[in-house]
Amino acid sequence: MFAAAGIYHFACQGQRMGEQSSMEVATPLLEVVDLKTYFRTDEGLAKPVDGVSFRVDRGKTLAVVGESGCGKTVTALSILQLLPMPPGEIAGGKILFGKRGDLLQLSTKELQAVRGGEIAMIFQEPGTSLNPVFTVGHQIAEAIRLHRPNLSRSDVRREVIRVLTEVKISEPQRRVNQYPHEMSGGMKQRAMIAMALACEPELLIADEPTTALDVTIQARILELLRRTQEEHHMAILLITHDLGVVAEMADDVVVMYAGQLIERAAARDLFARPSHPYTQGLFRSLPRVDRRDDTLLAIEGSVPPPTRFPQGCRFRERCPLAAEKCAEQPPLEEVGPAHTSACWFAADLASGRTKAFGESRQTTKTSDA
Ligand SMILES: Nc1ncnc2c1ncn2[C@@H]1O[C@H](COP(=O)(O)OP(=O)(O)O)[C@@H](O)[C@H]1O
Ligand code: SF4
Ligand SMILES: [Mg+2]
Repeated sequence: MFAAAGIYHFACQGQRMGEQSSMEVATPLLEVVDLKTYFRTDEGLAKPVDGVSFRVDRGKTLAVVGESGCGKTVTALSILQLLPMPPGEIAGGKILFGKRGDLLQLSTKELQAVRGGEIAMIFQEPGTSLNPVFTVGHQIAEAIRLHRPNLSRSDVRREVIRVLTEVKISEPQRRVNQYPHEMSGGMKQRAMIAMALACEPELLIADEPTTALDVTIQARILELLRRTQEEHHMAILLITHDLGVVAEMADDVVVMYAGQLIERAAARDLFARPSHPYTQGLFRSLPRVDRRDDTLLAIEGSVPPPTRFPQGCRFRERCPLAAEKCAEQPPLEEVGPAHTSACWFAADLASGRTKAFGESRQTTKTSDA
């Protein structure tokens, strides 16, 4: 999390949010359509991603937010089919990516060309993408050669040192020869980010990319992502529970709860008018400059496990507005231009006539969103 003071204030200033002009013509790069990813578990069929649809435009950042266990990582891993199958399976949907078409229909060879080339992914846990048996320099060099095969050995080495310098790794000349285990966790994280950006991907999937880093490094990495995005017109699918990062980075936001999308909007609109009780609850847990104490106002309870989602609205058990009709699942309905919310009271929430949470304090603390 960013330092408490000023997040909310900063968010309201909307330095990044709303930079996207509505007059710009957006070109979709990735379209996820009704994606369903299930797991067979001892407790029954788990449905962590259960009918999710969204799109990421070229050169833009879409943030996916939600508490731990909402299905954000499973969504990201489904795109590149990096899940263990079985027990996992893509039970339905399409993942349309640029000229490639539906990624779910590609051969293993084609999919490998997409991974790490056209789409790069950075994880919260760098161990997942750094190979322990090669030096970090070798791995970044491979990524560079992939899209610039004609570079000489010395030029590749120069590029490796440049990208390591960009992610603020000290003594890059020495680090190129180190193996991942010789680096600290934070440094490995940055080496992985360097490797992903060295591919110059069309789409970067960043799953909690800076959560493990300290605040100063975090700010530099976000700046680097933004700069790379501008230079290469890269799209970013940014998964985070940190609304401060969303405010700084995102053009558009989708909010996930219990395997479904419950609200989507341009970042500026979402911050100005959160129109789902769950989103309002997440915003309430942001540190604010107008509150004297640092108690986070968390939403009581927790995300239900994906084997036991309730019938009807899945937020029902935690929602202060829950009513009889919430036993039926509410559809995603438009509450403003390109702004949708899946709540029976969405229109009232959007207009401000109804608020899901008053200012009364709940004592539960949370480290997420
Ligand atoms: N391999 C797996 N087998 C069974 N359940 C899984 C597996 N991976 C993730 N899940 C479950 O899917 C749900 C969503 O997980 P995840 O996508 O990691 O959440 P988030 O990234 O939003 O915190 C969680 O309840 C998690 O336990
Ligand atoms: S549909 Fe009902 S339970 Fe669900 S978020 Fe809206 S008010 Fe709450
Ligand atoms: Mg996750």
